[in-house]
Amino acid sequence: MLERMEKQNRIFSGFDADAIDRTTAADLAEVGSDKWTRYPGCIGAFIAEMDYGLAPCIQQAIDSACDHCKLGYIPEPWKRRVAEACAGWQKSHYGWDVDPDIIRVVPDVLEAYEIFLRELVGAGNAVVVPTPAYMPFLSVPKLHDVDVIEIEMLQGTDETTGEREWLFDFDAIERAFAAGCHAFVLCNPHNPIGKVLTLAEEQRLCELAERYDVRIFNDEIHAPFVFEGRHIPYPTISEAAARQSMTATSASKSFNIPGTKCAQVLLTNPADREMWAERAEWSEHQTATIGAIATTTAYNEGDPWFQDALSYVRRNLGLFDKQMRTRFSGVGYIRPRGTYI
Ligand SMILES: Cc1ncc(COP(=O)(O)O)c(C=O)c1O
Repeated sequence: MLERMEKQNRIFSGFDADAIDRTTAADLAEVGSDKWTRYPGCIGAFIAEMDYGLAPCIQQAIDSACDHCKLGYIPEPWKRRVAEACAGWQKSHYGWDVDPDIIRVVPDVLEAYEIFLRELVGAGNAVVVPTPAYMPFLSVPKLHDVDVIEIEMLQGTDETTGEREWLFDFDAIERAFAAGCHAFVLCNPHNPIGKVLTLAEEQRLCELAERYDVRIFNDEIHAPFVFEGRHIPYPTISEAAARQSMTATSASKSFNIPGTKCAQVLLTNPADREMWAERAEWSEHQTATIGAIATTTAYNEGDPWFQDALSYVRRNLGLFDKQMRTRFSGVGYIRPRGTYI
């Protein structure tokens, strides 16, 4: 009975787990994504895409946009709709009551990272990136003559659960700040290791950043995928954290729409809003109208589909976890707390 109800719910949301289970690597290669075509015969594990198709509500919104020729340059009302929809998602999912006025659109999160490096870090300076890291966090700074200080994460054991976990090396981070580095990349939840920061960790980072006058690029693109604990948006923990951070997010990971090019930047530092108006607004113009339409629909109507996708990933994580603890117990493995990576 329960199984039938779950199935009915899935059909209602349009998330078809059975169809996904039947999908083969050859089917995915035929769709033609970069992930499945760049290295023929290999699993495209180097790109974070879920391969679960599109939520029907997004598909309908895109179809309707095409039917009505809504493919011109992005107009102000669509930017506003994205900002309001993003604010609505932040409030309903993480309790963050954010003013849509501080939310700007950009084509993608990496564009926001480039603006951060160009405008807030500046050529000749350095940024701390904890490793392992999403590759572009390490390669893009060089394009802006910004040095990268890599700080390896540590592995420890949670005292209450006895589970292995990834930890920031706060002593090494503090040494880098004390030596004059004023920028930090926070990826939370973390690609590729699936770490989800606790409030205590966010507070420790905030204290250090405050002491050494550090700006934080805060990438929360994987925020909807948390399996243990909860996602705490960094700017919500204190006024200092809000001032330190430039936050970037997007519906692209949770809804498989990265190619539609519409991410969001949340400017919680008032001075950044002036900088943005003077020096970064051009990036808004490069954002795609079709992406704004897809994103708005995702945030406003896509949650039932997303919840089914989340359950499916959770189930897969359970299967994977079991294999890693039994057949592959000799392989170093720390269970991810978030992301589908
Ligand atoms: C942590 C993280 N940030 C950013 C991106 C890229 O996002 P976008 O396509 O919006 O630049 C990815 C994609 O894998 C990612 O995993």
